[in-house]
Amino acid sequence: MSNHSAVTLGSGGPSIQPLGVGTWSWGDSFFWGYGRGTYTDVDIQAAFDVCLDAGVAFFDTAEVYGLGRSEKILGKLVRHSGKNLVVTTKFFPFPWRFTRGSVKRTLRYSLNRLGLASIDLYQVHWPFHPISIEMMMDGMADVVDAGLARAVGVSNYSPDQMRRAHAALLKRGLRLASNQVEYSLLNRGPERSGLLRACAELGITLIAYSPIGMGMLTGKYTPDNPPQGTRSARFSRAYLARIQPLIQTMRAIGEQHGGKTPSQVALNWLIGKGAVPIPGAKNARQAQENAGALGWAMTGDEMAELDRASEGL
Ligand SMILES: NC(=O)c1ccc[n+]([C@@H]2O[C@H](COP(=O)([O-])OP(=O)(O)OC[C@H]3O[C@@H](n4cnc5c(N)ncnc54)[C@H](OP(=O)(O)O)[C@@H]3O)[C@@H](O)[C@H]2O)c1
Repeated sequence: MSNHSAVTLGSGGPSIQPLGVGTWSWGDSFFWGYGRGTYTDVDIQAAFDVCLDAGVAFFDTAEVYGLGRSEKILGKLVRHSGKNLVVTTKFFPFPWRFTRGSVKRTLRYSLNRLGLASIDLYQVHWPFHPISIEMMMDGMADVVDAGLARAVGVSNYSPDQMRRAHAALLKRGLRLASNQVEYSLLNRGPERSGLLRACAELGITLIAYSPIGMGMLTGKYTPDNPPQGTRSARFSRAYLARIQPLIQTMRAIGEQHGGKTPSQVALNWLIGKGAVPIPGAKNARQAQENAGALGWAMTGDEMAELDRASEGL
């Protein structure tokens, strides 16, 4: 099977492996239990080191993750690594941020927490900002002009919203680099909505978040072993029972490729669809396993089998 070649972020952006790392859990105690039990900075450092060793060099954070703590943790790791990594963060469109100037002010706060002079990609976290998409994109283009960000992305934008953002940026001589949306074998919305097609058409990278279904596609959570805490509300025992046939199919396909795990199959399927998944990893073991999604590919028949097995979930 072929190895994955590097992709560019948007058209003409930095070259990356088609796999990144999401750092929502790095510093978030409410949802992901950071600082409680066994999950500490030592685990995060180890996960980060494993990523770099595996050539995974694209890291996603946001100002709201851990109320700024994720940016601080990631920035420190990036600075101490001395490596040239691709780092992206997000602007949260709070209702009181209703001028285009708020974008630059907010990015400066993020850069302070990250300890970086500029960022590779700045994304608008959600499309429900109090100003028009066009004015929002003007604010985003301003930060590129100011040398604070190299490219502009959006997140959770529908195909229509994304096209409007892309058109607005073109007027400023820029292209929209990415749209980050939930996409996995448990959520195939971007295929149904036409977003995946629109991204390919416009040269926009689809960054897939929650690519292993917040852990549900690892196969470790079952009706007898459901997730604890906030995830238990979203993933009921009945739901976990419903996805077990899919997990079995993933295991069987993984076996055909030398024992790839369900997580690796879940990520490899997304890469095969042309997306760049950004799985979260809380420790070295998870980071190592997720990096094993690179360097191999499923056959067309196997991709189609997973399409069928995940239909309607
Ligand atoms: N733009 C947005 O609105 C948005 C929304 C959500 C997420 N995101 C981004 O997407 C990233 C990833 O999404 P996500 O964190 O929601 O979900 P995910 O990547 O699907 O799942 C991550 C969780 O699954 C478990 N896990 C990961 N790898 C594993 C492995 N190999 N073996 C066993 N367990 C493993 C870990 O939790 P446990 O060990 O606790 O099970 C981990 O925190 C986030 O970090 C964030 O950067 C963006």
